Amino acid sequence: MRAAELSIVLPTFNEAQNIPILIELLNKTLHGIDWEVIVVDDNSPDGTTETARQIARQDPKVRVIRRIGRRGLSGACIEGMLASSATFVAVMDADLQHDEALLPQMIAELRIGEADLVVASRKVDGGTVGEGLSKMRAWGSNIANSLAQKLLNVTLSDPMSGFFMIRREKAEEIAPKLSAQGFKILLDIVSSFGGSLRIKELPFTFRERQHGESKLDTLVTLDYFGLLLAKYFGNAVSVRFLMFGMVGASGLVIHLAALRMFMVMGAFEFNVAQTAASFVAMTSNFFLNNQLTYRDRRLHGWKAVQGLLTFYAVCSVGVLANVGVANLVYLDPAYWWFAGTAGAVMGAVWNYAASSALTWRK
Ligand code: GDD
Ligand code: MN
Repeated sequence: MRAAELSIVLPTFNEAQNIPILIELLNKTLHGIDWEVIVVDDNSPDGTTETARQIARQDPKVRVIRRIGRRGLSGACIEGMLASSATFVAVMDADLQHDEALLPQMIAELRIGEADLVVASRKVDGGTVGEGLSKMRAWGSNIANSLAQKLLNVTLSDPMSGFFMIRREKAEEIAPKLSAQGFKILLDIVSSFGGSLRIKELPFTFRERQHGESKLDTLVTLDYFGLLLAKYFGNAVSVRFLMFGMVGASGLVIHLAALRMFMVMGAFEFNVAQTAASFVAMTSNFFLNNQLTYRDRRLHGWKAVQGLLTFYAVCSVGVLANVGVANLVYLDPAYWWFAGTAGAVMGAVWNYAASSALTWRK
């Protein structure tokens, strides 16, 4: 046995109905190509792992990775690509929305050796979003596209495509720089190479989903904007930190609203109202961070209660750091805003570092 020439990575979450159909289609389409499939399943409740393993027992071309306690399309793709020893790796959706008939053309392009990456695009001549996207999704997808093109100077016509084939060694080279969260693996790869990747685009039509449902939700969209900002700022700050910062900003609004409410109720002195408002804001920040910033390390049940308590503790120290630094920096009343900002940044950095080490520790 030697390594296949092509590994096809299929990220799955609740695709038990689609996987058998797709693998059968691949068997029909990929004559004469030495290929394998790597299913990367995030422990789907519908039993996708078991379905895939059943096929693997009959068909040695099928391999299965089952991930427990982790969620995320990009992370699953990265893990699948790193599990390959093939010359080329393809990533495609497992829900039959991507046209497997394109795979032979994609590998043919890579074999010529003039491209490192072949992207199946819905936006070059001949490609279309077909029935695959609702009007609303198509509109959102266009906005996301032009933002990516403008902010990151990515020349791809369809940077949001989840269907591509790449030289494995290239994927391996860039993997340490990629974000495991969200859906935007392709955009992440291309922008991380900063223009040095040779890319070829091929048209395809995005098919309609037949079974199961899409997992692209508001959180995934937020995460995407996080990725755009992080890349735009040259990776100086991580997606996670930006997300943490956005949650923090929402906390400020909530704090002020709660403070106003407690004051209007009139029963409290300012100090009491201010303290109560802090707790409201910290609590809201905790739950938002647990849902968004640390969705891959999300705390549940009793762990969430403990997490909330450590988060209160971390944030209290954060306030001290904030005030301390602001005082140090505060020399000239004309620059009060500079001292204030320095303090707030210090507080945020502390909260971020400490909560990622204590509250959402790995
Ligand atoms: N392992 C794993 N973990 N797989 C996941 C996860 C996850 O958390 N979330 C989604 N997947 C798998 C799905 O099971 C499916 O095989 C594939 O990733 C695509 O997910 P969908 O939920 O069907 O996404 P979509 O159809 O809404 O979005 C597609 O089109 C977008 C552009 O419109 C994807 O191809 C996106 O990558 C693409 O940007
Ligand atoms: Mn889909």
